[in-house]
Amino acid sequence: MKKIFSGIQPTNVIHIGNYLGALKNWVALQDEGEAIYCIVDLHAITVPQDPKILKEKILETAALFIACGVDPSKATLFVQSSRPEHSELSWILNCFTGMGELKRMTQFKDKSGGDQDNVTAGLFDYPVLMAADILLYQTTHVPVGEDQKQHIEITRDIAQRINSKYGETFTVPEPIIKQSTARIMALDDPSKKMSKSSPNASSFIALTDTPDQIREKIKKATTDSGSEIKSSPTGEKPAITNLLRIFSGMTGREIPDIEREFEGKGYGEFKNALAEAIIEELEPIHKKFEELMADKEALHQILTQGSQKIAPLAQETLNKVKEKVGLGI
Ligand code: AMP
Ligand code: TRP
Repeated sequence: MKKIFSGIQPTNVIHIGNYLGALKNWVALQDEGEAIYCIVDLHAITVPQDPKILKEKILETAALFIACGVDPSKATLFVQSSRPEHSELSWILNCFTGMGELKRMTQFKDKSGGDQDNVTAGLFDYPVLMAADILLYQTTHVPVGEDQKQHIEITRDIAQRINSKYGETFTVPEPIIKQSTARIMALDDPSKKMSKSSPNASSFIALTDTPDQIREKIKKATTDSGSEIKSSPTGEKPAITNLLRIFSGMTGREIPDIEREFEGKGYGEFKNALAEAIIEELEPIHKKFEELMADKEALHQILTQGSQKIAPLAQETLNKVKEKVGLGI
């Protein structure tokens, strides 16, 4: 049976890149095996956070997962810091990970912006904590966006290293990356990934944006030269290709089908239809989100139950690793 694990940081906003690249797959996968979805607050503090806002965001993220279709009666939902096994396994894995391996991580290079002396050791160590998240639950599949592929590769390397040294200890996980929506680009610059840390709010659409904000942002979205509504997988028309991928992701329609509908029509008409398609997909999510946020007690309960449910599995893996490595008495 498939064992699925994935996580998302409770920081800033969740945007349609996260939704199409990750969350939508999470929802589909919860019917294909045992799914565990995690709000990774320990990863969030690798960069400075305001404590009050972080706490609020943890609940909001949980509410958004459920609003997007993650069903707590099928998938387990929990907060990373509520299970101490993550930090403990992370320490052990640190002792089996090379500095050189971590220095090669693109995300670290990007986030440290070349100034490695002024970021935290936590940011450097981020992929090892992520490996611990995944390996604790003997995960077989990890649905993520393209940017996390390298982190899954290092997770596999660490697992294989420990397996070959101590015998079968961890399941070696596979990434699940849905190609068409694996890398949704920024609306203002299709050469950059849509990112929640962008200073320009028009570069992304948050799941909580209002219909008017969505219309405005799509209207402003960068387009390519020429007027044809046609994608180019080879990269000459990055902006329209990105918009078509968003359209397709939101509606479930194939890109050639959308291109046919807009043959001979201009960007204006296409953008109007795209904005409405996004609004239609997000409207029920907004409604459900508001309802869920009105009952924080119920959200707490879902997260606490989730954490309790997976405790035995986390403890079993951690004990196994400690035994193999020779820790304890
Ligand atoms: P993060 O926003 O870094 O916490 O990412 C949460 C999940 O969303 C991860 O699986 C990412 O790979 C995915 N993701 C983030 N940004 C994008 C994007 N622009 N396009 C597709 N997937 C994304
Ligand atoms: N690093 C991931 C991101 O920023 C979040 C994450 C943490 C994660 N632990 C994970 C994703 C385990 C998949 C599996 O997107």
